[in-house]
Amino acid sequence: MAVQKHFLDLNLFSKAQLSGLLKRAALIKKARKGKFKGQPDKVQPLKGKSLALVFERSSTRTRVSFEMAMRQLGGEVIVMQASDTQLGRGESAADTARVLSRYVDCIMLRAARHEKLLDFAENATVPVINGLTDMTHPCQVMADLLTLQEHKGPIAKQHVAWVGDGNNVAASWVHAVAALGGKLTLGCPEAFAMRRDIVEHAKQSGADITFTTSPEEAVRNADCVVTDAWVSMHDSDTENRHNVLMPYQVNTRLMAHAKKDAIFMHCLPAHRNEEVTDEVMDGKHSVVFDEAENRLHAQKAILLHCFGK
Ligand code: CP
Repeated sequence: MAVQKHFLDLNLFSKAQLSGLLKRAALIKKARKGKFKGQPDKVQPLKGKSLALVFERSSTRTRVSFEMAMRQLGGEVIVMQASDTQLGRGESAADTARVLSRYVDCIMLRAARHEKLLDFAENATVPVINGLTDMTHPCQVMADLLTLQEHKGPIAKQHVAWVGDGNNVAASWVHAVAALGGKLTLGCPEAFAMRRDIVEHAKQSGADITFTTSPEEAVRNADCVVTDAWVSMHDSDTENRHNVLMPYQVNTRLMAHAKKDAIFMHCLPAHRNEEVTDEVMDGKHSVVFDEAENRLHAQKAILLHCFGK
């Protein structure tokens, strides 16, 4: 049986593979702006191919960027809200994956639980892409790496600071730096610290990844400051999270600890004046909309990888 070219997590890829995907994403973006020959959007390498986007959780960026990426590469897209399908009424992930594999050539799944993604991938006979789970968000971090590269240079020479909840996006940042190098400092409160297996992965990798409870220490001399919502889609304890995470708000005072020319990233949606102030979101450090755009370009590289192109 052929091995599927899934895109499940960044720790499953080598440094060379991730660097290759980022290089390709940058060329695809350049091509779209008319600065590179052999434009994938014109050649349409995915003509005749189909992609199902399956969502167990809401989405704006993941849905639209994947849909446009696939269409621009010449392919077709089906969007499914799990709640409108039998998956939302108890049909197993395994059976759903087996059935969808008979209809489409690739599946992107946004799953409430990471185990469901793994079950899906194990039973699908077409490539499966992780479009966010409660544990990781690799497509987002590929777009973040592309954005960092554009504004500051390759990750290997950068100090990235993550502040706030040690969540799924932060976990994919750990995977990225463990594979690609660079320096990553995560400033998270004890109550919302990074998962132990991810901390262990960071240690085992030997990469320059440190964990602190101090947001100021995390941000000190950083080239890039990253945060995310305090209450993710799978969280419930909203009031407690707000209270504990308030000292981790990215505001002008906290950004002053980073390098003068540091950039600010957020995967969006942002909860303005909670995890980040308007002043930072709309200020000179912010590259959040370049970051959102880069979902499109990064995911084209991911799709081409999955389709073996
Ligand atoms: N950042 C991100 O994944 O956005 P959506 O939830 O809108 O897809």
